Amino acid sequence: MDTQTALTRMTGDYEIQQAFLEMSHLYDAAIREIRTRLEILDREFSIYYASNPIHHIDSRLKSPASIVEKLERKGWPVSVESAEAHLQDIAGVRIICNYIDDIYRLAGMITRQPDLELVRQKDYIENPKPNGYRSLHLVVRVPVYLSSHTELVPVEIQIRTIAMDFWASLEHQLRYKNDSEAAVSLKKRLKRCADQSAALDLEMQRIAAALKTR
Ligand code: GTP
Ligand code: MG
Repeated sequence: MDTQTALTRMTGDYEIQQAFLEMSHLYDAAIREIRTRLEILDREFSIYYASNPIHHIDSRLKSPASIVEKLERKGWPVSVESAEAHLQDIAGVRIICNYIDDIYRLAGMITRQPDLELVRQKDYIENPKPNGYRSLHLVVRVPVYLSSHTELVPVEIQIRTIAMDFWASLEHQLRYKNDSEAAVSLKKRLKRCADQSAALDLEMQRIAAALKTR
């Protein structure tokens, strides 16, 4: 579905297109708020502790087409109000860290910020998904200060190591494959990779810790 078709499905007329534009502005602002806070923390660490908990940050605003697709898939009405009421991943920020410890340290620093509200936390590192997926997911609401009022805007934050991210991007390509014999075998191999990369993350962290205490 292209953007215009998606917008027409969700909107139809000018006022609602304007509402969509306002929503995009709000969620884009929320992403920038979160990115800035993370960059400040990362800079602080490099100045005081000569370490960088963040390898890099990715972010994305969910496209109109995937907003419509998700609302339809979940059986919710297709409208701007419905998207705002039901979807918590319109704004998405992904933090890639070197080590597992960094993930929890960052999550703690984020959730302790007094004006951020933690809406949901899912720990797929402690409890990996059956396919082997690992990451820490947070949904927070961040205040966006507008000219006349303040809005609390949800942002989905995924925090993972380089190894977890490497795995997830390959696994993502498999999601669109059917359950043919070949796909089943690839899933098994990916599960094995997930276990190996979890072991790698642990051992790399132990080695890094041992280097620090020398
Ligand atoms: P959604 O309806 O997909 O948002 O599910 P949910 O609300 O239960 O959210 P969950 O926290 O489980 O997952 C949200 C996001 O995490 C997805 O949109 C993906 O970006 C990522 N994710 C979750 N599970 C997997 C997985 O098995 N493989 C990969 N590659 N990514 C995943
Ligand atoms: Mg999602």
